[in-house]
Amino acid sequence: MSDLFDFSGRTVFVAGGTSGINLVVAQAFARAGASVAVLSRTPDKVRAAVDSLGECGVTALGFAADVRDYEAVAQGIAATCTELGEIDVLVSGAAGNFPAATDAMSPRAFAAVVDIDLKGTFNVLRAAREHLRTPGSAVITISAPQASIPMTLQAHACSAKAGVDMLTRVAALEWAAAGIRVNAVVPGPIEDTEGMSRLAPTPEMAELVAKSVPMGRYGTAREIADCCLWLASERASYVNGAIIPVDGGWSLGGASEVFTAMRNLLVE
Ligand code: NAP
Ligand code: COA
Repeated sequence: MSDLFDFSGRTVFVAGGTSGINLVVAQAFARAGASVAVLSRTPDKVRAAVDSLGECGVTALGFAADVRDYEAVAQGIAATCTELGEIDVLVSGAAGNFPAATDAMSPRAFAAVVDIDLKGTFNVLRAAREHLRTPGSAVITISAPQASIPMTLQAHACSAKAGVDMLTRVAALEWAAAGIRVNAVVPGPIEDTEGMSRLAPTPEMAELVAKSVPMGRYGTAREIADCCLWLASERASYVNGAIIPVDGGWSLGGASEVFTAMRNLLVE
């Protein structure tokens, strides 16, 4: 897909872009010619991500910061703008998750996920706003099916990602006049990711999840990246405020039931 899209001369910032789905998204933009900056907490992950992006032959920057720390996020974004120019594409995908029952998780556990996923997304969008190219930039939040589908053991993630979807829509409404499009991509269960290794940690559970997807399989991070490339491109120039599932139809049915079916296995 990157050969269909040319992001040469563009600047892309990916919050949480050092592993899993978000790193593949960052790499897809780099392969399409963009200069790319990534931000996450772990310095080793940041270094490795910057190295892999540099191998695509583009300029890459990295910042070790927590999205819960507004000032640190703002510094990383401002430094990106100084080094690489105004931001053309902002991807906000930092998140944390683990299975935990509502009546067993601690207040700090609930808060950790809300603080990273929802308040972290606000921090990233708020700090980036003044550095987004106007008109013509695109913001993509990485949501989850939990945003609209209640799932057992996911009260924290469901609450946080529901907020991410609504924040996405409000920003789309407010920033459209400045020529900034804001959309969300909602991955289904994606293979070889930290997220699914936490939610379906055994081959048996992974099989149950795969069977619960109408298309009968996990998706790939590349399939999420392809949607992001399109959304950020001129080919999606009238798409604003959309919450787009890339999930093999999981949100049409199966997504909620499979977690209820796995509940006893997951809390053992
Ligand atoms: P992942 O590899 O764990 O990616 C999470 C990224 O966010 C990492 O780069 C991590 O790096 C960073 N991060 C976590 N907490 C952070 C914080 N407080 N501050 C800054 N960065 C932070 O997980 P993934 O499974 O690929 O998930 C990526 C995104 O896709 C998430 O938004 C997730 O909700 C969404 N999603 C995933 C799936 C799936 O099947 N995996 C399905 C639906 C939605 P550090 O650890 O270095 O901070
Ligand atoms: N079940 C129940 N509670 C858990 C938990 C689990 N598996 N993991 C952490 N918690 C609780 C902790 O016990 C703590 O609560 P307490 O102080 O009342 O005991 C609270 O959550 C915060 O934990 P802490 O380890 O201090 O948080 P952190 O900010 O260092 O890390 C997490 C954030 C917990 C979300 C961590 O799992 C993380 O960093 N995840 C990022 C990677 C990820 O989840 N990837 C998938 C993305 S979808």
